[in-house]
Parts: sequence; structure tokens; C-alpha cells
Amino acid sequence: MKQQLEQIKTAALEAIAAAENSADCENVRVKYLGKKGELTAILKMMGGLSPEERPIMGQLVNTAKAEVDEALGAKVAEMSAKAEELKLKEETIDITMPAKVNKTGKLHPLNTVLNDMIDIFQSMGFDVVDGPEVETDHYNFECLNVPADHPARDMQDTFYLAENILLRTQTSAAQIRTMETRKPPIRVICPGRVFRADEVDATHSPVFHQIEGLVVDKGVTMCDLKGVLEQFAHEIYGPDTKVKFRPSFFPFTEPSVEVDVSCSECGGKGCRVCKGAGWIEILGAGMVHPNVLRACGIDPEEYSGFAFGIGLDRLTTTRYKISDIRLLFENDKRFLDQF
Ligand code: PHE
Repeated sequence: MKQQLEQIKTAALEAIAAAENSADCENVRVKYLGKKGELTAILKMMGGLSPEERPIMGQLVNTAKAEVDEALGAKVAEMSAKAEELKLKEETIDITMPAKVNKTGKLHPLNTVLNDMIDIFQSMGFDVVDGPEVETDHYNFECLNVPADHPARDMQDTFYLAENILLRTQTSAAQIRTMETRKPPIRVICPGRVFRADEVDATHSPVFHQIEGLVVDKGVTMCDLKGVLEQFAHEIYGPDTKVKFRPSFFPFTEPSVEVDVSCSECGGKGCRVCKGAGWIEILGAGMVHPNVLRACGIDPEEYSGFAFGIGLDRLTTTRYKISDIRLLFENDKRFLDQF
């Protein structure tokens, strides 16, 4: 029996040494140490031994079992260490490899300036509204006090899609749509694309951008218009910026003004950016014409208001010293990457 035990033990240790993977180890464990395993079977055979022999044999079997168990444990540990090492090797990251360049997009300069403007006007309590780019003659001209035969139409010669349907020439159409749907007090800006049949050159494009502003309430005066525009100019161009109002004409405002700001580049002395003038024209504005208020069902005896239309493209080209408006629309990445 002793000999048999020795043989089983040797066979078990050899099998452990030969095991190649965890499944082999498990098979060895079941074969020798399991409930029906060979070493367990030997224990069961001890019933036939004399009482003197039994404890001696028992001890031998237990020692053999412990030895096999220990060898098996060591083998399993060795194998998992090897597997771990292999895994680490496979997962090594070569930090000397050049990284993949992550090409993130960014805002177009027009959008950057627009977002700044929206921030400024929102902080003064203005809502942002949207209007359609395809307008009716009614909203783009008629309600804005520009009847069919009015000479102001010539200045905004534009693209007609059908009789009385056109690409809007000015965001001012949004004034009317807003006054039709909202009751005063009204404080909105409407940014958007506008269209005019202009020849393309460094300062003209048939597609450009405006931001219309409209305020209607009781007791609104030209002082309020000046205050709002001055605040806006200071935030966009800096606190030393001077604002100049020149008398002008728009059919839908009375009185009307053209607004210039002192050139932020030269401080008013005259330079390339302001073409020597010291001033840059940035917008048209005025007090909303009583006819316009009336056309929208607002009583001009009770309410008054002001409106302004800012050229976003001009603001952007002066801020970034862009010499040609066409660059804004060509979408050449080499140009846009600079901003
Ligand atoms: N809509 C005018 C333009 O396109 C600008 C403007 C807007 C003037 C609002 C006065 C008030 O030239």
C-alpha cells in the first residue's frame, strides 16, 4: 500500500509538472485530490489495515496529499503570473509613437462676433428672435413704410423668387413680425443673413449679415437709443470708444441716424482700417416711424420705440483687420485657421 501511495504521488507530481494550462491543473486536482480521486480512494482503503498501521498510513497519505496540493498551488500561481506578464506585454503602449492629431473645428469669425453681440444685448435685457430669409414684399417693404413706388427700394435692389416673394434685403422685416406677435414692452434683436443684388468687391457681397434691434415701450426716447448703442460700442470696441450720430434717412424711422464709432485701431487719428477718416460707420438707427407702429396695431400716441440695424460683416472685418469681405465667405481653411 505504501508503494502504491508512492506511485500515485509520483504520477501526480509528474502530471503537475507537465500541465500546460489551468484546465490541465484542474484535471490533475480532480484525478488525485477530488472526491473520487486516487489519493482519496487510498484513504478509504485503510479500513483493511490493523489498528497499529492505520495512523501511520493515515499520516503518510495526508502528507502525500499536502505535497501534491502544494505543488499544484505553486503551478497554478506560476501559470497566472506568466499569463499576467504576457498580457502586460501585449498591452504595452508605445509612448514614443506620434499622437493622432485631433482636428477640432472652431467657430467662424462671424459667429464669434455674433455670439459676443448676443451676450452684450442679452445682458441689456434683449431677447433673440429669428425671421425667415425668404420674405414677402409686405414684411420686407410695405409695412416698413416703403410702398411699391418708393425710391428706397432701388437702393436695396434684390432677388425676387416670385411676384411679391423675395430674399429679405434687411432684417428689419423682423421688426414687423415681432410687433405683430408680441405686446410692448418689446426688446429684441434679430440676427441673420440678408441679400441684395450688389456687385461683389472687397467691401460688398450679395449676401451679408445684419443684426436688427427693436425696443418699443411707453416713453422710449432717442436718449435710450443713444445709451444702448454707446454701451454696445464700449463693450465691443473698448470704453474709450466715441460714438457719433449723423442725421440720415430710413423710411421706417423718424428721425433716422447713421452711427459711427471712433476707429479702435488709431483712436480717431486716421489709419488704414478707417481709411483715414478716424471713424467707422457701423449701423443705421432711428425712432420707429409712427406709420410702422400703426401698421402693427400699436398706438403711436401711447408707445414709442427705436430700431437699429448693425452690419455684422463690417464689425468682423474691422475687429480682425480683414481687408476683404469675400474672405469671410470663401471658407478657405488656411484663412479661417487664423482665428
Ligand atoms: N435696415 C436698414 C438697412 O438695411 C438699417 C436700419 C435698421 C436702419 C433699423 C434703421 C433702423 O440699411
